[in-house]
Amino acid sequence: MYGPVQILDGKTLSVTIQRELADKVDQMLANGERPPHLAAIIVGANPASKVYVGHKIKACDRVGYQSSIIELPEATTQEQLLTEIKRLNLDDSIDGYIVQLPLPRHIDNDIVIQAVSPLKDVDGFHPVNIGKMTMGLDTFIPATPYGIITLLDRYNISTEGKSVLVLGRSNIVGTPMSILLSRNAKVGNATVTLAHSRTQNLDQLCSNADIIVAAIGRDRFVKEHMVKRGAVIIDVGINSIPDPTKKRGYRLVGDVDFDNVVDKCSFITPVPGGVGPLTVAALMMNTLKAAQLYRPK
Ligand code: GUN
Repeated sequence: MYGPVQILDGKTLSVTIQRELADKVDQMLANGERPPHLAAIIVGANPASKVYVGHKIKACDRVGYQSSIIELPEATTQEQLLTEIKRLNLDDSIDGYIVQLPLPRHIDNDIVIQAVSPLKDVDGFHPVNIGKMTMGLDTFIPATPYGIITLLDRYNISTEGKSVLVLGRSNIVGTPMSILLSRNAKVGNATVTLAHSRTQNLDQLCSNADIIVAAIGRDRFVKEHMVKRGAVIIDVGINSIPDPTKKRGYRLVGDVDFDNVVDKCSFITPVPGGVGPLTVAALMMNTLKAAQLYRPK
């Protein structure tokens, strides 16, 4: 019934989107405008955070945006971070910025997120932007769900009327993903189930789903018996597991047992090279939006 599985090539699509954005930057420059400017605050020395912020800054270079990294020590107090955030809110040369998560334990994420100006909140984490997204208003959409929506759109994968199982209810991925796919929109109109650590009958819910979005951070959690033949699998997981055959001693795997699931699906994202690169492209799209819509004239 289904042809061969198609691997959803997030890496190539991300390059395509970044080329499109670079053309838009060229148009801005031709109009005498300055390029978009993204800033990233990073608190402490979380190695994964440093890698992720590095990817974002490199993407800025590729598309021709200006970028700034604000590195603060682990011991930064919440007050000091809030002072920095106020400064960025008032700095007209910065169109959008992110505060890389996780923050050190002594800092309250929710207070920090609410301090970011909603007009510069290119992560789409501020309650105003989550509210606008939920109402179907134009706003910044959190980068990972935005990347996934873009992937489904560009590959013409219809979600209309489909049963979608979102695995994981984080504010960054699972919850916004479930809202977006249930909206009345081109990529939307799905019947969405949001599963989490207390969900019962998970295997059955998974195996009834036309589309699974796995975002729980547990390596190769989604197994072959949980996947319906012909399903679309979107794997958000990035888990590192020991691998003595690799020089660095580990390799990255997703939340889906790719090797055993791949032949059962119609489409699947690889890890790495699937959702990850699109997350970066989506942040770049949001930053352009901030510059075009909200920059003071
Ligand atoms: N940490 C993991 N994902 C994200 C993200 O999308 N934005 C920020 N700011 N931090 C993250």
